[in-house]
Amino acid sequence: MSDNTIIQNDKDHVWHHLTQHKGFETSDPMIVSKADGMIVTDTKGNEYLDGTSGGVWTVNLGFGRDDMVDAVSRQLSKVPYFAGSFGNEPAAEYAKEVTSLMPGLDRVYYSNSGSEANEKGYKMVRQLAHFKNEGEKHRIIYRDRDYHGTTIGAMSSSGQLQRKKNSMDHLHQASLKCLIPVVIDVHLEKNMESAILSAQQLLKILLKLKALILLVQ
Ligand SMILES: Cc1ncc(COP(=O)(O)O)c(C=O)c1O
Repeated sequence: MSDNTIIQNDKDHVWHHLTQHKGFETSDPMIVSKADGMIVTDTKGNEYLDGTSGGVWTVNLGFGRDDMVDAVSRQLSKVPYFAGSFGNEPAAEYAKEVTSLMPGLDRVYYSNSGSEANEKGYKMVRQLAHFKNEGEKHRIIYRDRDYHGTTIGAMSSSGQLQRKKNSMDHLHQASLKCLIPVVIDVHLEKNMESAILSAQQLLKILLKLKALILLVQ
């Protein structure tokens, strides 16, 4: 398929994540076609240095890793997918390795995305609150300007109003915003006032409003 056809198909049929499409009326979307190490190439042959690890900090090992390709390929041949309520060999092996790096935690829940991981976290802590605190502590605290994903729960606990205004206003109900807590450093006097304000506000919310978890970005 020619590059122009690919671009046209994208323009006509693909809905890009978190993207205003109006701009594509006058310019083409960037279509990533290959990547190696830290270099990404688009269908027009332009090369880019990827300083954001796959655009959203997820390709931490770099592109074009043959060892990863081989491992994934071997597993695809063995068994590509089975529902998460059952186990599989790499999941068991990797969970052991991950928990060895997490003192005090002995179990891993696998998620498909950051948003989904946060949703699962909310469900876990709310379930815990239900049994241990008679459902009292059920609210999620987030910080101003935080980003936690675009699923409904994750977005409702994100501090970026532009992403949830108008039709999404009602999403605020289960979450609370607070100022960004800053590190209080007695040597940085000019920050002291806002630092104290933030800390006071956070403490007030935690004590008064049955808050459950504070998200850290
Ligand atoms: C701090 C943080 N939480 C959650 C997310 C959402 O992750 P995903 O896009 O995989 O749903 C992101 C994505 O950039 C993030 O930076």
